[in-house]
Amino acid sequence: MWMMRQAGRYLPDYMKLKEKYSFFERIQNPELAAQITLQPVDQVGVDAAIIFSDILVIAQAMGLEVQLIENKGPLLPQPIKSENDIKRIRSVDPREKLSYVFDALKLTRNELNGRVPLIGFAGSPWTLLCYMVQGSGSKTFDEARAFCYTKPALAHQLLQMITDTTIAYLKEQVGSGADLVQVFDSWGGLLGPEEFEKFSLRYIRQIIDALKSETLTIIFAKGAWHALGALADTGANGLGIDWCISPDAARTLAGPEPVLQGNFDPAKLLAPIPQIKKEVKGMLDAFANYRHIANLGHGILPNIPVDHARAFVDAVKEYSFSDQTVISE
Ligand code: CP3
Repeated sequence: MWMMRQAGRYLPDYMKLKEKYSFFERIQNPELAAQITLQPVDQVGVDAAIIFSDILVIAQAMGLEVQLIENKGPLLPQPIKSENDIKRIRSVDPREKLSYVFDALKLTRNELNGRVPLIGFAGSPWTLLCYMVQGSGSKTFDEARAFCYTKPALAHQLLQMITDTTIAYLKEQVGSGADLVQVFDSWGGLLGPEEFEKFSLRYIRQIIDALKSETLTIIFAKGAWHALGALADTGANGLGIDWCISPDAARTLAGPEPVLQGNFDPAKLLAPIPQIKKEVKGMLDAFANYRHIANLGHGILPNIPVDHARAFVDAVKEYSFSDQTVISE
């Protein structure tokens, strides 16, 4: 079990580092990134570490300026709107620009010394396009969607450049010590089924194809439950699901192969601890006959008390399968 966004603002030790260093200092300094990656392993007891970084480092490496505005989120002051804008960016060899991520992975792996696996990650090409075109966070990413529908050739050119860079990036993460990689398609759920196939899945498929002989892969396409069958067909080892779909329905759509990951509503971690424990048991009962990685259905919220995060982890670890029929493999 682990928690998406498990390293971050709900941890007091992270907040101490945040007072001293900017966001990009925290991710670009391998010692700091490694230290932050280890915090939830040491302090909350999760079963896996995920390297402390951000999906937007790919946009930066490809030539776009990315700022992180406190309490507002990411800002890309010169987003991609036209063919001319695309000329400002390029596919890159990640070793040129992102060596700090690889150094952080190597350091973290050393410090973990086999205690728990280390997860690498990247954003999906569609989710990165959302930020690169919209220029900031959004609940709907209308401009990114409109860009795909009105300038499809440009959109595909951009998606392919991101895909090529991401494949090289994830391969290098594996070479630097990541035991598995997760692709975050955080905004996959904003596309209809046909558009999801065209603008997201097609590129995720290329990534899984390129990585699957080298490592284990998980795809988290938030809200894109309609595509669980097609996502399973990519050969990904795991599929993340959010709390808006039941484990049963997800398994029916995904078929027997992939491990399902999720799907506790992070807002439930604001409930009193006894209620968290009861709800976690309910979630695990619902997944019990399935191959399952316990996780949240999306990132942990910054206002979750640490002891509530710990209660989630403990509840998973205390769960007994004795009353369940567990499929043995
Ligand atoms: O999971 C982990 O612990 C690893 C760290 C991680 C971060 N970002 C650190 C971060 C991971 C896996 C990400 C991925 C990421 N980044 C995603 C996909 C996952 C998801 O939640 O959907 C997305 C969409 C982003 C883009 C991004 N980065 C946004 C929208 C924001 C601002 C919003 C927010 O949550 O504050 C960030 C900044 C960011 N990335 C923070 C952290 C800890 C907050 C920065 C801070 O400390 O102030």
